[in-house]
Amino acid sequence: MSSFIQGLDILLRQLRGLDTANRPRVDQAIIVRIERLRRDGAEEMSSQISAPAEISSRSSVNPVGTSSASSVSVVREDTPGVGEPDEQELGPTEDREQRIAALREKVLVCRKCPHLAEFRRTVVFGVGNPSADLMFVGEAPGADEDLRGEPFVGRAGELLTRIIETMGFKRSDVYIANVLKCRPDMPKGSSGNRQPTPEEMQTCLPYLRDQIEIIQPKVMVALGGVAMRGLFGTAEPMKSLRGRWHTFGNIPVMATFHPSYLLRNQALTEKRKVWEDMLQVLERLGVPITQRQRNFFLSKPGASTNP
Ligand code: URA
Ligand code: URA
Repeated sequence: MSSFIQGLDILLRQLRGLDTANRPRVDQAIIVRIERLRRDGAEEMSSQISAPAEISSRSSVNPVGTSSASSVSVVREDTPGVGEPDEQELGPTEDREQRIAALREKVLVCRKCPHLAEFRRTVVFGVGNPSADLMFVGEAPGADEDLRGEPFVGRAGELLTRIIETMGFKRSDVYIANVLKCRPDMPKGSSGNRQPTPEEMQTCLPYLRDQIEIIQPKVMVALGGVAMRGLFGTAEPMKSLRGRWHTFGNIPVMATFHPSYLLRNQALTEKRKVWEDMLQVLERLGVPITQRQRNFFLSKPGASTNP
């Protein structure tokens, strides 16, 4: 691997690290530009190495990657010692990382909804493990998410993070995204958030579909009625949707209440319902459930109720 590409990798690792640690916020656009440079550099090298002029690796680039053909890694047996480790076939993990990165790059500059593109500070693409077994889908970024460029980082996000951790995972184990990638616009001077409209969600849904197609989670969780509407077009109330399995493409989706609903309605019974939904998710994932996990939010005195 050239020292140029190694240098870019070091830089990228550092920037991504800063970004997840949320110290001085890194401009997402800079990461995207370096990622692009790095890919172009790797492609140029592999096309130089692979000699035959008719092979244009550039033309085979498929940013959303509907096929998993790895355009960057051209293995050449006749060039021993050149560009070794990263010139092998991509494994599924690296392939997903590249495809998610390419999709992200495309979504970050989307302007399909001019009113949202005008209003937003960042596009909130999604965060987590591109090879996650479990994916959470919310409705749309709020003000906090719009500032940070990351889904579920406000009050509802803190609660979602606690739910994920109580399930025995870290945020970085799972994948978190919204149906709508931009914060719904608000009248000037107004500080709250509004729900995304069905039209906005429909416009943005192909991006979520692509994310799901790349990640191929074993199980998804839809957070709240608006996310369910975005995913399935259903306007049924959550009372009848939650706690049941739905199917998106070929992927089982558990519908549960949105964490914001739990913040508004502090009743133990409602928390327990969400937790029962998460126990179903763990079962479906084949993850062993501890007795302590089984007992959360049961109102017996002494039962642990506050993960
Ligand atoms: N609510 C959502 O639905 N998504 C977020 O990212 C934050 C709050
Ligand atoms: N209704 C919704 O739309 N979402 C919830 O999470 C709860 C009630």
